[in-house]
Amino acid sequence: MHQVEILPSILAADFARLGEEVQAVTAAGVSILHVDVMDGHFVPNLSLGPPIVESLRKVTALQLDVHLMITDPDKYAPAFAKAGANLISVHQEACTHLDRSIHGVKDLGVKAGVVLNPGTPVATLSEVLHLVDYVLVMSVNPGFGGQKFIPNALRKIEQLARIRSERGLQYAIEIDGGVTAANVPDIVKAGCDWLVAGSSVFHSVNSSNAVREMQRAAHAATSVAV
Ligand code: DX5
Ligand code: ZN
Repeated sequence: MHQVEILPSILAADFARLGEEVQAVTAAGVSILHVDVMDGHFVPNLSLGPPIVESLRKVTALQLDVHLMITDPDKYAPAFAKAGANLISVHQEACTHLDRSIHGVKDLGVKAGVVLNPGTPVATLSEVLHLVDYVLVMSVNPGFGGQKFIPNALRKIEQLARIRSERGLQYAIEIDGGVTAANVPDIVKAGCDWLVAGSSVFHSVNSSNAVREMQRAAHAATSVAV
């Protein structure tokens, strides 16, 4: 059975105490942090840019997974790689030349991911799945933390897991939006590897404990599966 990871999303953290927030989730044993980049065009919200990634890079050895919710990922991906990103994902919906954008990210020497909005079918990725290191399935419409989980994402994860095994591919499957300890079991059973969690981690009383609870739920779900 696959190794499941919980990825805290710093969008929900207190940016004035970012170093401490990162330390708290590091203590729970996470290996990847999720970093949401929003440009006010592709999504109706603004978040952060390369300087925050650069600051994070100085205080953590964790892998930084940069989720680009921006209109022109080709233009800005290099700055995020330079700032210290280890993984960079681009939205299918933002890329007219998706194959080129994915190759562009890979050429930066980081892992490349492709993201699907809730309204975009898995089939739109059939020609690029062999190129990517991971596929991110949005389980909310991107732009804000704290939204309600859209259950259709589970069906897309199942499809991606099936295609991965049929085609002998290796990509990881990631989910983002509305993930809580309560829906972790269903997500893991659908075949998801990386679960992004913002509010359910950083808006809890103790973020380290919140991550541990989700890790336990994930491991319990993997051990009963198959
Ligand atoms: C949404 C972002 C998410 C966000 C998830 O646009 O891509 O990564 O941080 O937040 P929660 O876990 O609160 O739904
Ligand atoms: Zn995200």
